[in-house]
Amino acid sequence: MSSKIALITGGVGGIGSAICKSLAEDGLTVVANYTVPGSQNKWLDGMRLAGYADLAHVAHGDVADFNAMGEMVERIEADIGPIEVLINCAGITRDAQFRKMSKDQWDQVINVNLNSVFNVTRHVIDGMIDRGWGRIVNISSVNAQKGQFGQSNYSAAKAGMHGFTKALAQEVVKKGITVNSISPGYIGTEMVQAIKPEMLEMIVSQIPAGRLGKPEEIGKLVGYLVSEHAAFITGANIAINGGQHMF
Ligand code: CAA
Repeated sequence: MSSKIALITGGVGGIGSAICKSLAEDGLTVVANYTVPGSQNKWLDGMRLAGYADLAHVAHGDVADFNAMGEMVERIEADIGPIEVLINCAGITRDAQFRKMSKDQWDQVINVNLNSVFNVTRHVIDGMIDRGWGRIVNISSVNAQKGQFGQSNYSAAKAGMHGFTKALAQEVVKKGITVNSISPGYIGTEMVQAIKPEMLEMIVSQIPAGRLGKPEEIGKLVGYLVSEHAAFITGANIAINGGQHMF
């Protein structure tokens, strides 16, 4: 049986890398999208060391650019095969109080975190519909649900992913495609470590589990959602935040 192909946007990042490893562990071929030239090398080394060299591919392209994503998807499908699993994971922060936020900080976050979801999904959805099978997982955030001081741009973009997930799930459920989102809390990645130490300490003190989440914990949840076992889960959002926010 040939291995299913998964495209993970932002796949070379902290959470993205853990998702790639988890999917490769389950036998999927993974294609990690990246934007910054050179950032793929560490990822490729990591996959090789973990024993997944044969399943690991990289694809360059800016998720904020609709046409670039179309070209990237075309290249992947010609060189590797059809994309059956899509993980929309690319994301950035440009934190600032709203009254100090520039138009550029707003636009960058909306483009990379939310418009990207359209830019990539639009190019893979027809293939999934034609083949009658697909899995889409959108990586949102606890801050979509609870809001966060300094993140009006990020919270808006991540909350937008929830609406997108539920609407698209309804449109494609009869085509064998599930669309779900997960909302990680504060996970021990470079993005979170970049928060000022005193601020991060305050945030961790508000997490009932008393610690940051591990990227691998996100990877395993995504692995389940893209498996056959999760065929009846669609339009859902799964919180994974150590009890920081319950609803
Ligand atoms: N609630 C209420 N007031 C707050 C506050 C909070 N959470 N944080 C800061 N303030 C107040 C300060 O007490 C201070 O008040 P005074 O002026 O009265 O003393 C004032 O706001 C400081 O405002 P500044 O704009 O000058 O602050 P700053 O520029 O130093 O920092 C910030 C602003 C960068 C947004 C900073 O507050 C911060 O880093 N916040 C954390 C943001 C955050 O959680 N980001 C998550 C990144 S990780 C991620 O996004 C992954 C994920 O999905 C979870």
